[in-house]
Amino acid sequence: MYRLLPTAALTPSTTPPVGASDSQVIRFAQTLNGYDDCGGYDGLSAALDAMPGLHACTLHQLRLKLFMAQRQHYFQGGSWGPEDPLMESMRELCGIIRTRVLDQQSALLWWTGDITKLDVDAIVNAANPTLLGGGGVDGAIHRAAGPKLLQACTDLPLVSAGVRCPTGDARLTAAFDLPATHVLHTVGPRWTGGESGEPTLLANAYTACMTIALERRFQSIAFPAISTGVYGFPKERAENIATEVVHRMLGKSSQTLRVIFVRFEA
Ligand code: APR
Repeated sequence: MYRLLPTAALTPSTTPPVGASDSQVIRFAQTLNGYDDCGGYDGLSAALDAMPGLHACTLHQLRLKLFMAQRQHYFQGGSWGPEDPLMESMRELCGIIRTRVLDQQSALLWWTGDITKLDVDAIVNAANPTLLGGGGVDGAIHRAAGPKLLQACTDLPLVSAGVRCPTGDARLTAAFDLPATHVLHTVGPRWTGGESGEPTLLANAYTACMTIALERRFQSIAFPAISTGVYGFPKERAENIATEVVHRMLGKSSQTLRVIFVRFEA
């Protein structure tokens, strides 16, 4: 079970690769706080490259500062001691990375793993309109939540024959045996080539879940890649739709909501 942010149980850091996800940079930044193996100039440089949204001139200034300190460090035959001038730059850079990523009001994070392990206010289930379970993440969530989840879904009212949740809509239940507190069941569109309104329906599914999360003042929500499995929606296009909807809704809200996009790895 993982409590993401700010008390994630972190394994020893590895220097995040360029383009690392926020969660990798977070792990890196938190390790930097201990100034142990911070990966040196290359490590920090990679962290900077991975930083989403750092203003270009800030990035340039930081990189220049880091480079000048590195030259001073090596020309003086410096060691990585606490008084080393480069460490001062790193400390400053760590502060910026931490502020930018760890303490920002709302964060979009990408995390690789099994959504059923996440201890968040709500995990989203990529369900089907019956809400009676299925394979993929639907099956995993029902298995981990236990039989009470199916009962809670069965208790939800039908809106038409065999349909408890129309495509693009969402329903909230408790999470029972899961570490999460709630499950937001949503139904994404089945991909049939993109000419039948699938992009809009997928955006509607993310919007419906975010609307409930904000109305219920949740502080954290985790999404799987809705519709990209059995329903065949192209992953990259789906991710773009998801991040656009979430960015837009977070931008309009004054609430603190951490949104975690889960890339599945068993
Ligand atoms: N944690 C996180 N993500 C997961 C997990 C998991 N435990 N298991 C699967 N996934 C990922 C898949 O890798 C995929 O990227 O969830 C994404 C959605 O895939 P599906 O679960 O197949 O969902 P979807 O494509 O929306 O199809 C929904 O499948 O299971 C049935 O009842 C469901 O009929 C519905 C249909």
